[in-house]
Amino acid sequence: MKNRVSETLNMLHQEHIVSYMKSLLPEEQLSMTEQINRLDLSVLNTEKAKEERGFFEPLYAMRLDEIKANRQKFTETGFQAIRNGKVGAVLLAGGQGSRLGFEHPKGMFNIGIDRRLYIFECLINNLLDVTRQADAWVPLFVMTSEDNFQETQDFFEQHDYFGYSKDNVWFFVQEQLPTVDKNNKLMLSGKGKISTAPNGNGGWYASMEKTGLLKVIQDAKIEWLNVFAVDNVLQRIADPCFIGAVIESGKVSGAKVVAKAEPEEKVGVLCLEDGKPSIVEYYEMTDEMINRRETDGTLSYNYGVILNYLFRVDMLNRTLSVKLPLHRAFKKIPCMTTDGEFVKPEYPNAYKFETLALDMVKLQKDCLAYEVDRNREFAPVKNKTGVDSVDTARELLKLNGVEL
Ligand code: UTP
Repeated sequence: MKNRVSETLNMLHQEHIVSYMKSLLPEEQLSMTEQINRLDLSVLNTEKAKEERGFFEPLYAMRLDEIKANRQKFTETGFQAIRNGKVGAVLLAGGQGSRLGFEHPKGMFNIGIDRRLYIFECLINNLLDVTRQADAWVPLFVMTSEDNFQETQDFFEQHDYFGYSKDNVWFFVQEQLPTVDKNNKLMLSGKGKISTAPNGNGGWYASMEKTGLLKVIQDAKIEWLNVFAVDNVLQRIADPCFIGAVIESGKVSGAKVVAKAEPEEKVGVLCLEDGKPSIVEYYEMTDEMINRRETDGTLSYNYGVILNYLFRVDMLNRTLSVKLPLHRAFKKIPCMTTDGEFVKPEYPNAYKFETLALDMVKLQKDCLAYEVDRNREFAPVKNKTGVDSVDTARELLKLNGVEL
C-alpha cells in the first residue's frame, strides 16, 4: 500500500512528501499513508485557467418598494410554511476566518462592547425573533470544519444554545481538501500530516447527505432550506417575508441581494448566464455591463449577493450528482516545513480549494433576487479593521438598535 502511495505522489510531482515519509517511524508512515489514501488528490490537477463563462443578461430583482407593497401577504405565506415545519436553516460556519485572525470559530467572536454578544448569539437572537413570532422552531443545521467542530458544539452547549431549542440543532462536519504552496506542492500541517483545509461553502448539501442529515430533512418533511453565512451579524434568518416571496413567485430558489453602492463596487452580481441564474464577479464584468442602465435609471447589473439563499430541497437532491467547480483561494495557511519548522505566515502563502455556495445557484432553474436594505441586513465581519470589519459591523448593529 505504501508503495502505491509513493508511486501516486511521484506521478503528481510530490517527491518531497515521499522523501519526508522515509524519515518517519513505521507507524507514523502508516498513519500518513492512511491519511493520503483518504485525500482527494485530484485537486493537484486543478487548472489555474479561468472558467469559461456564457452569455450574461440582467436578472429582474424584486425591489424594496414591491416587497413593501406585498409584505403582509408574503409574510403570512412564510409564517405558514414555518409553522407547517417546511423550513430549515443551514448555518455555514466551517470557514477559517483567516482575515479576522481570531484563533477560534468566528461565531465565538465577541462583537459586544460593554456587554458580551458573541456572533453565534447574535445570529440565534435574529432567528429567535422569527421563531417566537411563529411560535414554532426552525430546525437549524450548523456546518463546521473538522477543526472547529468540537469547539463550536461545546460553545453552544456551554451557552445553553443561546435560548434556542437544543433538540432543533444539528451539527455536521464538512470535508477537507489538501492545500498547496505556490508551486503546487502539498504541505505539512504537523508531524506526519498533510495540510488540509475545509472544502469551501458549496459542499454543504453534499456534506449533509454524507453525514446522514438528509434523513432528518426527509423525516421532518422540510421543503425549503435557508442557507446563510456566519459572518453577517445583521442577517435575517428564516425571514418569513423572503420565504413567502419565493414561494409566491413559484421559483425554486431565492437570493437576498443588496443594491450596489456604486457601479464599480467589488461584489458578485446576480444575473442570468445562458438563461440560468448565475453570479458574475466584479472582475468579470465589461465596462459596458458595469455602466449599463435600465430605462428607470437603475444599473442593469445592480444587485450583489450576500450569501443568504433559499433552496427548494427536491431541487437540491438533483444537484447531488454534480461535481461543483473548485476555486483556488490564496490564503494564510500555517504549516510545517519538511525540516520540522513551524511557519505562521503573516501574508497569504498558499492555496486552498473551495467549492462555492453561489455555484449551487447556477444549478437552479430559476432564482428570485430579493432586495434587502444593506443598512438593515448586511453587516459582514470579515476583517479586523477597515471595510467589512468588526468596527463597521458594530456601527451597523448600533444603527439597528442592538445594544453592544
Ligand atoms: P469566507 O469566504 O469569508 O471564508 O466564508 P472564511 O474562511 O470564513 O474567511 P477568510 O476568507 O479565511 O477570512 C463565507 C462563509 O462561508 C463559510 C464561512 O464560515 C462563512 O460563513 N465557509 C467558508 C464554510 O462554511 N466552509 C468553508 O470551507 C469556507
